[in-house]
Amino acid sequence: MNILITGGAGYIGSHTALSLIDKGHKVSIIDNLITGSRKLIPKNAKFYKCDIINYKKVSEILQKNRFDAVIHFAGLIKVEESVKYPKKYEYNNYTKSKKFIDICIKNKLNNIIFSSTASIYGHSKKKNCKENSKLNPQNPYAKTKFKIENFIIKRAKQKKLNYIILRYFNVAGADRKLRSGLLDKKSSHLIKVACEVATKKKNFFIINGSNYRTSDKTAVRDFIHVTDLSEIHILSISYLLKKKKSQIFNCGYGKGFSVLQIIKSFNELLNNKIEYRFGPRRPGDIEKLVSNCNKVKKTLKWKPKYNQLKTILKTALNWEKKIISFK
Ligand SMILES: NC(=O)c1ccc[n+]([C@@H]2O[C@H](COP(=O)([O-])OP(=O)(O)OC[C@H]3O[C@@H](n4cnc5c(N)ncnc54)[C@H](O)[C@@H]3O)[C@@H](O)[C@H]2O)c1
Repeated sequence: MNILITGGAGYIGSHTALSLIDKGHKVSIIDNLITGSRKLIPKNAKFYKCDIINYKKVSEILQKNRFDAVIHFAGLIKVEESVKYPKKYEYNNYTKSKKFIDICIKNKLNNIIFSSTASIYGHSKKKNCKENSKLNPQNPYAKTKFKIENFIIKRAKQKKLNYIILRYFNVAGADRKLRSGLLDKKSSHLIKVACEVATKKKNFFIINGSNYRTSDKTAVRDFIHVTDLSEIHILSISYLLKKKKSQIFNCGYGKGFSVLQIIKSFNELLNNKIEYRFGPRRPGDIEKLVSNCNKVKKTLKWKPKYNQLKTILKTALNWEKKIISFK
């Protein structure tokens, strides 16, 4: 397959590019490097430094290559930042994506895999969110994803494209061969920050919120290893090309861990204890987000391989140790 990846210099995009290349597929990447890094771009991928809204350049890339599908990862991803700068998120994530998707359609690239987020479910009263659960995005970041989903669905109804929308729960871990992982130094990602404390880049870990209605009063999340998530993308492309049928899938393991449980599991793994303190809730944060992932397992015959919390923590920590040597 010949695949275009937007945001391929980022955490999940670069990993998916590697997984595709490992399986013998051709990969081209479009990324403006706003948060991504050249260090993460696989050597065997073709790289175009380009914004997804650059009509001329994107059109040229699409006309030069005949892509089978596009995986659209590019976007800004920080909930807290989106609360502070909602317009920046609206423009980069929604307006630009809309224009990009229309450039793809114009150039007959009609198969799209889109990175959405579980946070569009918002405060779900249901135990585990299903794809048809009520959507209730609570922060500007999630709202942009909700709007792009609707835009994609609208274009599909006009018979202009086929899509797979993937709603990721919390993505974590790193490539087992340590070729890629989360590089963003300003990340507020729970496991990333815990790794920074474990490797002494930070002094202590702050648990944001200790008055949630959960068993230990800290927020609960469903973590999925980035390698398992990449595999879902590859299966999604094959499904889309074969069946031409649009779908929405939750991407998680269907199991919730509290922030405190994560820190405690980390401390069991490590000799040096992660020191933690409790802080206030962050604006936009959700109490509990856990997937029902039966649909993706059944439809794509996806079998998670890295779904042990310790595997996620170990690979993330090994990556963090490796990047100490990065400049
Ligand atoms: N990391 C998670 O836990 C998580 C959870 C749910 C959804 N997602 C979604 O998955 C996707 C990838 O996330 P990630 O964690 O790899 O983030 P990331 O920040 O590591 O990667 C995003 C990439 O997109 C690029 N980019 C941003 N705007 C662009 C633009 N206008 N033009 C070209 N390139 C642009 C950035 O430079 C970066 O390389 C995002 O769309 C994000 O919303 C991530």
